[in-house]
Amino acid sequence: MSEPTKSNLNNARFLTVEGVEGVGKTTNITFISAWLEEQGVPYIHTREPGGTPLAEELRSLLLAPRDEQVDATAELLMMFAARAQHIEQVIKPALAKGIWVLCDRFTDATYAYQGGGRNMGFDKIQQLESFVQGDFRPDAVILLDLPVAVGLARAAKRGALDRFEQEAEGFFHRVRDAYLNRAKENPSRYWLVDAEQSLELVQVQISNALQKILADQV
Ligand code: TMP
Repeated sequence: MSEPTKSNLNNARFLTVEGVEGVGKTTNITFISAWLEEQGVPYIHTREPGGTPLAEELRSLLLAPRDEQVDATAELLMMFAARAQHIEQVIKPALAKGIWVLCDRFTDATYAYQGGGRNMGFDKIQQLESFVQGDFRPDAVILLDLPVAVGLARAAKRGALDRFEQEAEGFFHRVRDAYLNRAKENPSRYWLVDAEQSLELVQVQISNALQKILADQV
């Protein structure tokens, strides 16, 4: 039997949160976790790259600043290597038990960062997505959107910059554009949240989206 396109085995949902650096992912993932707990929804919170011991090691390798120029194809393959491990070890087993998966970034980040940011285009990513995931996709993607300069100023306050955060501003404009294009192309799966508003208003938008996702209006 082929994989279902929607991940909601046992009605559990696979929810991802995306956005450019400094957009407020961490704060809002904490908010989403609290919301799920209040609703009595069983869930796990995980992240990409990462989420298993092997994938977390790949994450460290990917994020570490280094003198050696990292080849874009090597970077892309490492993202998908970590993802393959994460999907099989963590994401699918949780969904199969009826546990929701709340994931900080997933394949949409590959389209945005490697496809857009690194200018790799989207064909190779689509091929790897099919190879690694079959038809498996998130049920809902919450995209936090903010002007790049605002996000980067916030990220700069957090201390030492990782290898991605050290990229020039143009990189992040390409990342944001790629995210916004994907949201436009997949309106039924994407929940676009204006993250420039006050935290209170951002969280109103998120809880409206969560209510609809819970009611399965995705
Ligand atoms: P973050 O989780 O702290 O945002 O850091 C992860 C970094 O990895 C972030 O800069 C985005 C980047 N990334 C990619 O380039 N491609 C991917 O597929 C994923 C999941 C993350």
